[in-house]
Amino acid sequence: MNAHPHLQRRTFLKQSAAGLGMLILPSGILFGKKSPNEKLNIALIGAGGRAIQHYGAFSGENIVALCDVDDNALAEASKKFSGAKLHNDWRKCLEQKDIEAVVCCTTDHTHAHVANWAMLRGLHVYCEKPLANSVEEARVVRATYLANKGKLATQVGTQRHAGNNFAEVRKLIREGAIGELTEVAAWGDRRLPKPGYLPAAGDPPKHLHYDLWLGPSPLHPYNPGYFDTRGPGTNCLNWNMYWDFGSGQVGDMGSHTMDLAWNAIDATHPIAAMAEGEPLNPDVSPVKLATHFKIPANDWRKEIKLSWYQGGAMPKAPTDQAFRGVGHGAMFTGTKGVLVADFGSHVIIPNGTPADARLSRTGVKGGFNFQGQWINACKGGPETCCNFDYAGRMIETMLLGLVAYRVGAAIQYDPAAGKVTNNPAADALIRRAYREGWTLKG
Ligand SMILES: NC(=O)c1ccc[n+]([C@@H]2O[C@H](COP(=O)([O-])OP(=O)(O)OC[C@H]3O[C@@H](n4cnc5c(N)ncnc54)[C@H](O)[C@@H]3O)[C@@H](O)[C@H]2O)c1
Repeated sequence: MNAHPHLQRRTFLKQSAAGLGMLILPSGILFGKKSPNEKLNIALIGAGGRAIQHYGAFSGENIVALCDVDDNALAEASKKFSGAKLHNDWRKCLEQKDIEAVVCCTTDHTHAHVANWAMLRGLHVYCEKPLANSVEEARVVRATYLANKGKLATQVGTQRHAGNNFAEVRKLIREGAIGELTEVAAWGDRRLPKPGYLPAAGDPPKHLHYDLWLGPSPLHPYNPGYFDTRGPGTNCLNWNMYWDFGSGQVGDMGSHTMDLAWNAIDATHPIAAMAEGEPLNPDVSPVKLATHFKIPANDWRKEIKLSWYQGGAMPKAPTDQAFRGVGHGAMFTGTKGVLVADFGSHVIIPNGTPADARLSRTGVKGGFNFQGQWINACKGGPETCCNFDYAGRMIETMLLGLVAYRVGAAIQYDPAAGKVTNNPAADALIRRAYREGWTLKG
């Protein structure tokens, strides 16, 4: 495939720069980079819901395009960003020539599509979590990012990562505060049980482009229950548990909480996965689930077991109080003790601590501007923390756990090929089928 015009332009600039010594472009662009005080032209794809919570963070830039499948959400967003062009279909939106960067806050089942198409057009991407809805999607998006590394800035919307406790937990693990690391677990307890896809319930309202909402996913009849919002960023809790629209708590709180663990273990990929949970529902992802991964050794630690628990499944607590007050958390087990963390605090429990010991957690305040880090990277600043390499490997791992769950078997994984090597049924679940006319690599 030929490079997109934006990329061709950047390549040309680089080549010209090599020959000319230094090339300063009109509008202050230096070798394809912007000066920090120059505004970035952003398209908000998914302009209502979660995007509203980002308006403050991005309104210092130029919002030149708004895209939403809901005309009412578009109308509301255009009150705030009056100069922006309006779109219903993100594929059309990406054709708008002045866009330099995309903020994607759509449904989970379109994240990888929007992100990949945008990067293929030379656009920087901030994508809400989860980055992907299948192992294959995670791999494709990561590969596109890696092919453009240094040219494109990416960030997955796991903004809790900006809290200083994330860095502090990593530092403690690397300093050997619990000895040599042997096992890591993360968990969450958000429970959204549903029996199955909602039944047909009338026609979609005129303001909602329901076919575009379904996008690449199979046809499911309209039901207003998928659109029962109780405020910005909450409607995802009405659709993210259905397999065709999301991955339940694996992609939802799992994206945030596993991030706490993933940030401290320098993992590449798992080589095996297994899962246990409630009986499989073909429509809905499980509430109660535990997934386990074999993570190969790296240059500072041995092979470790990594686990994700949700919906009442939990790792064994080392003492009575170890998990007290920790709703979503992570536990690092080492040869000298354990470290239990939540997003904003942690506690170290040395081996030999009595089971009934009182524990006092260390709260860690402060952090950095997560969206600002991405904006800065778009303008040529340092790499983002949750770029599509780091976050792509994490969601690939988490989604592989759901593959093991769906086949009910321990699976062996070849991370270089992206293949399950011991179970053809599991290998088939690495990817999902799209409706005719929709492609991930457009
Ligand atoms: N990082 C966080 O803490 C956080 C918090 C809440 C939500 N989220 C994420 O944000 C995303 C959106 O969640 P939400 O609760 O706002 O959902 P939502 O259903 O309200 O959707 C958000 C907006 O996107 C629009 N939309 C949906 N599909 C679209 C498409 N294909 N093209 C264009 N617009 C589309 C909707 O009409 C709506 O205005 C989810 O992926 C969710 O995981 C992240």
